[in-house]
Amino acid sequence: MDELKTNVLYFGDNLEILCKYIPDNSIDLIYLDPPFSSLKSYNTLFKESDRWSEAQIKAFSDTWTWDETVERTYYDILRAAPPHIAKLIDAMHSVLGDSNAVAYLVMMTRRLIELRRVLKDTGSLYLHCDPTAGHYLKLVLDYMFGPNNFINDIACYYGTGGVDTSWSGRKIDTIFLYAKSGNHFFNPQKDESYLERRRGLSNTNIEHNESGYNTRNSMSDVWDIPGLRGSQNEMFGYPTQKPLALLERIIKASSNEGDIVLDPFCGGGTAVVAAQKLNRRWIGIDITHLAIGIMRNRLKDGFGIDADIIGGTVDLAWAKALARQDTYQFQWWALSLIGSQPLGEKRKGADKGIDGVIHFIDNASGGVKRVVVQVKSGHVGVNTVRELKAVAANDAIGVLITLESPTSPMKVEAVDAGYYRSPIYDKDYTKIQILTIEELLNGKTVDMPPSP
Ligand SMILES: C[S@@+](CC[C@H](N)C(=O)[O-])C[C@H]1O[C@@H](n2cnc3c(N)ncnc32)[C@H](O)[C@@H]1O
Repeated sequence: MDELKTNVLYFGDNLEILCKYIPDNSIDLIYLDPPFSSLKSYNTLFKESDRWSEAQIKAFSDTWTWDETVERTYYDILRAAPPHIAKLIDAMHSVLGDSNAVAYLVMMTRRLIELRRVLKDTGSLYLHCDPTAGHYLKLVLDYMFGPNNFINDIACYYGTGGVDTSWSGRKIDTIFLYAKSGNHFFNPQKDESYLERRRGLSNTNIEHNESGYNTRNSMSDVWDIPGLRGSQNEMFGYPTQKPLALLERIIKASSNEGDIVLDPFCGGGTAVVAAQKLNRRWIGIDITHLAIGIMRNRLKDGFGIDADIIGGTVDLAWAKALARQDTYQFQWWALSLIGSQPLGEKRKGADKGIDGVIHFIDNASGGVKRVVVQVKSGHVGVNTVRELKAVAANDAIGVLITLESPTSPMKVEAVDAGYYRSPIYDKDYTKIQILTIEELLNGKTVDMPPSP
């Protein structure tokens, strides 16, 4: 195995990435927020300057069925896992059968075996889940880490969502905290939200002192960290996105500056962003291009970091294979190469022919303009450029991303569209720009005024 790389995003199945790239005893802190086995599909929403777009695209599905991969993983566990874990999974399978719950548990157990392997002896693991499958996961964690290394069952009170009149509404997630050994690092954190509440209340009977620590116990197992609401700046639309305050608390409590934080199901990258902010090294893994693209842009916008993406060779042959397998994933990936927001499947009216947009501000009064983007993975011709010209007529710039090289008539048709003149930058930008995937992979970008 090569030397461990940090501050990188891995694209792919975390099981494969962990086995291939992450050495034993190398990670200080693991936070995982896997799908909770909710039997739902989650969509990503996108912000359009000051409001949420109606466009959504499927980010990931959280339904687990007993299929060939699960069956193979199940037999791997029986054959190669530590015997007590193999016995536990076998027992659960004999009671619950080839059910969705056991399929989920098999998938999680195999990954938790690798996560324990890569954790340092002084390290901690936080597993974020909810009551759907938390009780099963706790059994696996107890068997895997040993009940003595169970540190806490944190009730994360998120407080969002409506009132459930039929029954008591669910307002907490569960975070299980385990250490690899008795030597784990721990730096208790003040309960800032408690302090804020207390400052606003004259009368309280909660037993805390002014420092924010509980008088009996320096850090309690109830964390009052409100879930994200659509209006918050921090919210950028990734489904199940967790608050930065939560991840900052975990990272401060269980790591030091320079330590390595791993999130193997990192989605929109909250753990990665919090780690970067707090001067930790980080490794993020996700199985979708959508999540990797979102994280890459979040790191670029927030910290000016152009993160390395590892996992599979991303070259022209790979892009062609992706386009053959899944047109939508290809489209989102191509859009992420130029920092464009995908418009998703529910486009309306004039936006029907557009796959993505990039906004920019281009007049003294702060007016927002758009670059509209089309992605074509199949055959293209002069008509493709004519269509884009029509679609982009009311926008500043139109961009066509193609797998195939453009023909000469396509280039002539594009040049014929002229220029967009920027009043702020006092500069002309080509109105219709054709960029091939090969050019984008070689670093070419859209020629446009800076995007905020
Ligand atoms: C609940 S979301 C994580 C949200 C994240 N904590 C945030 O704040 O944005 C779970 C993520 O796990 C990813 N995922 C699911 N199975 C995976 C696997 N086998 N390997 C890597 N990532 C996976 C999904 O694509 C999804 O982005």
